[in-house]
Amino acid sequence: MKALVLSGGKGTRLRPLTHTGAKQLVPVANKPILWYGIESIVAAGITDIGIIINPETGAEIQAKTGNGERFGANLTYILQAEPAGLAHAVKVAQPFLQDSPFVMYLGDNLIQDGLESFLQQFHDNGSDALIMLKSVANPTAFGVAKVSAEGQVMELIEKPQIPPSNLALVGVYVFAATIHEAIAQILPSARGELEITDAIQTLIEAGKRVDARQLSGWWLDTGKKDDLLEANRIILDDCSATAIKGDIDDQSQILGRVSIGTGSRILNCTIRGPVVIGQDCHLENCFIGPYSSIADRVKLVEADLEHSVVLADAQVVGVHQRIVDSLIGQRVHIREAPRRPKALRFMLGDDSQVELTP
Ligand code: TTP
Repeated sequence: MKALVLSGGKGTRLRPLTHTGAKQLVPVANKPILWYGIESIVAAGITDIGIIINPETGAEIQAKTGNGERFGANLTYILQAEPAGLAHAVKVAQPFLQDSPFVMYLGDNLIQDGLESFLQQFHDNGSDALIMLKSVANPTAFGVAKVSAEGQVMELIEKPQIPPSNLALVGVYVFAATIHEAIAQILPSARGELEITDAIQTLIEAGKRVDARQLSGWWLDTGKKDDLLEANRIILDDCSATAIKGDIDDQSQILGRVSIGTGSRILNCTIRGPVVIGQDCHLENCFIGPYSSIADRVKLVEADLEHSVVLADAQVVGVHQRIVDSLIGQRVHIREAPRRPKALRFMLGDDSQVELTP
């Protein structure tokens, strides 16, 4: 069994952050989203993993993620020259995948469930494909499956006007090598992409066995700001533990689960967990509220922030209004607000400079 993690694409929904960086490297609880998927794959015993990258962000992903040693896996980077669709990515990866069955994992998706029982079901049923489903409130916005009482997929419909169910396709799949034949038969869709849903539909129409399984835990597609903040909230709730490596002065108060990296200094701050703070940060006269993730080398002075993600090297100085529900890109500077508007909500790209004036 191999795995293919899709980490190319356009990332239009997470602009402006994705103008300058890969969306799969945006951190959730200070760890790149992509790494959660790789860890889940390795936890299920798969160590031969292909990573689809694109020409724009591939080098950054490769430099940050490495050859797989940190995961106990062997990573092979596969360049997809253009974002021509999920099935196109599989096509490009065929020399790597060969005839092996494989897990396909979208690099900006996170699921709570472990993969082991899905792989077991795939093997036990002798499936050609196993797709994962999650009931959603707004099925018209997703790929939706019509499933028989026995759990076999009868039809897949992209963004249906009249959904046959509320079961949306999650970004994790298991395929046998027969998927390559199906992909060879499909044509680009109206949006010009080779769609994996079309390839799966081709399998169904050829009488192949396509099974479905509902997730019991959460599923997050972090391609948008609010989903990313939600992922941050859930991961901090689930996974964070107190680990203080930086220095905290006597005037500061640390409440709940808070982790602070080496070289970080906390002066006269109140930090209410769950919160994770990276290395070499400087926090002075701040309130940091629950569900905040602060990456390395961030400077926060006279700032009040909660339920927000701050990326590396950003600075927030003298902003006395509470910053909430915000995603602040790398190297962003926000300074001084002499008067106080009620609330501030940000989605700022890397290198942004914001000055708040009365
Ligand atoms: P999507 O989020 O569906 O597509 P996208 O990255 O183009 O983003 P947006 O809708 O914001 O423009 O892609 C899901 C995952 O698959 C994501 O990690 C990117 C990756 N991907 C590829 O690797 N190759 C592709 O051709 C496409 C379309 C996506």
